[in-house]
Amino acid sequence: MKHSALCYMARRALIGGRNSNRQSSAVVRSFAAAEIGQRHLYADGGNGGFFYWKRMMSSQAAPSKPSAEETEAKSTEKNEKKEESSGTKNNVVVSSYWGISRPKIMREDGTEWPWNCFMPWETYQSNVSIDLNKHHVPKNFLDKVAYRTVKLLRIPTDVFFKRRYGCRAMMLETVAAVPGMVGGMLLHLKSLRKFQHSGGWVKALLEEAENERMHLMTMVELVKPKWYERFLVLAVQGVFFNAFFVLYILSPKVAHRVVGYLEEEAIHSYTEYLKDIDSGAIENVPAPAIAIDYWRLPKDAKLKDVITVIRADEAHHRDVNHFASDIHFHGKELRDAPAPLGYH
Ligand SMILES: [Fe+2]
Ligand SMILES: [Fe+2]
Repeated sequence: MKHSALCYMARRALIGGRNSNRQSSAVVRSFAAAEIGQRHLYADGGNGGFFYWKRMMSSQAAPSKPSAEETEAKSTEKNEKKEESSGTKNNVVVSSYWGISRPKIMREDGTEWPWNCFMPWETYQSNVSIDLNKHHVPKNFLDKVAYRTVKLLRIPTDVFFKRRYGCRAMMLETVAAVPGMVGGMLLHLKSLRKFQHSGGWVKALLEEAENERMHLMTMVELVKPKWYERFLVLAVQGVFFNAFFVLYILSPKVAHRVVGYLEEEAIHSYTEYLKDIDSGAIENVPAPAIAIDYWRLPKDAKLKDVITVIRADEAHHRDVNHFASDIHFHGKELRDAPAPLGYH
């Protein structure tokens, strides 16, 4: 029974799309219960594993007819909900053993916090008054190389996506979240190697990567990637991660300058996106729930509000990366200047 509950919950989580996050804790609980049952089956002898596997497969392969197992799973879920609402459910096996359980977190309006991927204290109100037109004029040879590289990279992007800005933004965010992670990782390793603080820059760059990933998690609620786009992301990530990794090792100042110019292009792309929303070419649909919570937007926020705050984030990233590059150009290390923590 417990195994079928696992199958049912896991299947619900997989096909549940945007709601899967909310159900993940239930899946973990079911998994804990199934784990115990599984041990019993394996303890039966060599065939126990086979029968367990077969049972798992059979319950997955027959989704059309609501079987007795599924009915049981539903009643298990119902009972769990009942126990949770009445507050009688004690902490489940796994979490009581490891001491890990997430307390119930509430929003300011008294409703339950639905996200496991970020917490209320990680949300923020974007500073949309930031200057969107700032530009670092390339001054020396390396600046010019960085600028030209980004302008060259824009050509295939323009050709491929044209004015499909939803799709374009989603795909570009898969790339935009890479530099912060690579830079943060390399600074982290440097901090370990040299037995010295990073001055907060590890955290600042990882925050940037996470912020970019949240842009992607938002865009993917609005645009569903097609199979060939997923393939393209795979190929581009493979190339871009390695290229940026090598570039950051060779010259962090050029690497940050490249990111600064990439962010300038991102601001341009989101500005064009907003123009298409204003003209009606792109429908101003309601904002995804994840975006409303992450940027503390009003409940009736629309796509235009989301794109406006994402564009403001990109402007912050632009400033952080040009600033980081400037520090290197002055012959200093990043840790010599204050890290822009929480600067989105
Ligand atoms: Fe972004
Ligand atoms: Fe960005």
